[in-house]
Amino acid sequence: MPDILALTAPQNVLPAFTQHCALLGHHEHQLALILAGEAQPALHKLTLSAPVQAIQFPQAHSNWLMASFSTSGAISPYLHQSRLSVAALGHCDEHASWCQRYQLLPSASLSQLVTAMLASELNDGQTLASSLHQLATTLSGHYAVIVQDQLQPQYLYALQGGLGLWVGQEDGLRQICTTSAKAMRQSANSAYEMKPQEVVRFGLSQPTFIAADESTAPISMSSGKQIQVPHHMLDEIQSQTHTLAAQVDRYHSGKLFSTALLAKLSALRSITLVASGSSFHAAMIASYWLEQLGGCKVQVELASEYRFREVHPAPDEMLIGISQSGETADTLEAIRLAQRKGAAQTVALTNAPGSTLTSLCDHTLLTESGHELSVSSTKSFTAQLLLLYQFALALGQARKALSSEALQTAEQQMRRLSAAVQTTLEHSKEIRRWASELHRKANLFVIGRHAMYPVALEGAFKFKEVAYQNATGYAAGELKHGPITLIDEELPVIACLPWNEHAERMLSNLHEIRSNHGEIFVLSDGNLASSERFHVIHMPTGLGNLSPITYVIALQLLAYHCALQRGNVIDTPRNLQKARTS
Ligand code: G6P
Repeated sequence: MPDILALTAPQNVLPAFTQHCALLGHHEHQLALILAGEAQPALHKLTLSAPVQAIQFPQAHSNWLMASFSTSGAISPYLHQSRLSVAALGHCDEHASWCQRYQLLPSASLSQLVTAMLASELNDGQTLASSLHQLATTLSGHYAVIVQDQLQPQYLYALQGGLGLWVGQEDGLRQICTTSAKAMRQSANSAYEMKPQEVVRFGLSQPTFIAADESTAPISMSSGKQIQVPHHMLDEIQSQTHTLAAQVDRYHSGKLFSTALLAKLSALRSITLVASGSSFHAAMIASYWLEQLGGCKVQVELASEYRFREVHPAPDEMLIGISQSGETADTLEAIRLAQRKGAAQTVALTNAPGSTLTSLCDHTLLTESGHELSVSSTKSFTAQLLLLYQFALALGQARKALSSEALQTAEQQMRRLSAAVQTTLEHSKEIRRWASELHRKANLFVIGRHAMYPVALEGAFKFKEVAYQNATGYAAGELKHGPITLIDEELPVIACLPWNEHAERMLSNLHEIRSNHGEIFVLSDGNLASSERFHVIHMPTGLGNLSPITYVIALQLLAYHCALQRGNVIDTPRNLQKARTS
């Protein structure tokens, strides 16, 4: 998962930085860092082999550094005229028009854009503190920014617009990072999670808040241990604001899809998506996007079934294997079978660079959501969804199936995504309240229509995986064909009801459930009010086709809280493994 980080120390920071890097996990990382030693600050780019053990720094000593990590190298701090160093992560609204205003190409990174904005304020005679406050009030979106000005080399500044940023200190070492506090938890004695609009200044002295008029106020830091998140699953659910913002950023960097892959798209006749478990549900959701936005015929196949069939792949068919681990045996065997039967174009969509799936396939699409520690997929699932959505946009453009207005709308919706995920996570209290009732039920239904049908399947899957509850996902229109007989006071129904062209039909399904005395828990962005045995959580609006992502996150959180209240082991559910190798 991409991260930005800055460190300062009275002595050399490089040994402490090496320790941070050792926490990175097992992916290869592209590191870009600005270091200042005796010489002027300079930007260096390195590749870190996984797991990270030793790093050859371009210089032996530095009191501060600013770094970014990503697996693609798309994120980097920016050094302006050897004076301003800026590391920014995430995205801002109206990125293209801000770039135009500051005479930057639309492909400029957020770091470049923030640098241009700050440089312009500084040139107008503003102080850095007031320029940063100005930035925090004008720039909306989901981002985190760290800044250093060589005119005051003893300080670093930071602010965040909705993306987690943690300040920590341990002895003389001060650190700030976006890693959902992972590095902080492991090393900092005390830490503080910044809030939007706050500007923090730190250096060799205590970190402080700094106001636009440069007055300072102390930060009350808590013990690093207190900020521990109880389970990886929760940490991973919460990190989705961050992982998805970074994925949107990668899309706008224009480096997401290789030219070789893009060249294949216009001539395709069909796409087959093959996957297992949650990845299969991601494929099902994506099939709606690939048909609608990409203008292509799509089949979705369960790998465990496909691998034993007499399949006949066509030369103009693209086979995409989706697997977060890249090691699920059924998915690998499905790809091998298709290749034996003549599949000519295969793509691996995975979170694991260097996995068996990538070595089997002609092309790779990487979700860079970071190593997922909980067995149940959460952040890697939504990363698959967003990457598939972005692929559908590329497909639609290549096949001229997508108008420029539709593309613009889709891109605007993508920019809103991270904030919408944050809003969804802020419903945690209501979700916990739902869980206090739902965790007692042996059976549950989760229902939805259209792309919300596979969302319901994934939600039900989460309940089975971690809460050990017998949840069944249904296409809402199917209830009347049989399952409605099971509805009574004891069988709650969780409904995904985005306010779109399917809402009317969905409401009539809910009406039928009510008349059979069912209790309904609705996730909806419609103007609905809770009433007796009809509970509503209001979901963020304006996401259009992307709304499956926020609904699935609400269901992940609900299943997590049910599992917790049932006293289950969360991160390693019984009988499950992350990737099956046989
Ligand atoms: C396991 C996990 C599931 C996961 C499935 C596919 O069975 O329990 O949560 O969805 O594997 O994993 P993959 O790595 O191929 O996406």
